Amino acid sequence: MNTNRRVLIVPGGWAIDVPSGSTLLAAALAAGVRLPSSCRNGTCRECRCRVLQGELRHTIGWPGLDADERREGWALPCVAEPLSDLVIEQPRARRDDAA
Ligand code: FES
Repeated sequence: MNTNRRVLIVPGGWAIDVPSGSTLLAAALAAGVRLPSSCRNGTCRECRCRVLQGELRHTIGWPGLDADERREGWALPCVAEPLSDLVIEQPRARRDDAA
């Protein structure tokens, strides 16, 4: 079953669909929303953002977040898959429509 999750990125206000099996970062890029990123494997923390609503899981056992950050709702979109619809906060997100 292919379940898309809807993810709203604030404060930009862009909604993207994340197909099952896709990371937040990959889905955002595919939708034309550029999230900050570098390593794309959960270590550099460049993509770190806050989850304001909803649940996600990290695809690796030890993403570069400590226990406090996880409790406070921080996530690494390059290695995160939504488990529900989400609202994430990433002030450095940009819409990729400079064509
Ligand atoms: S891009 Fe490096 S931790 Fe996500």
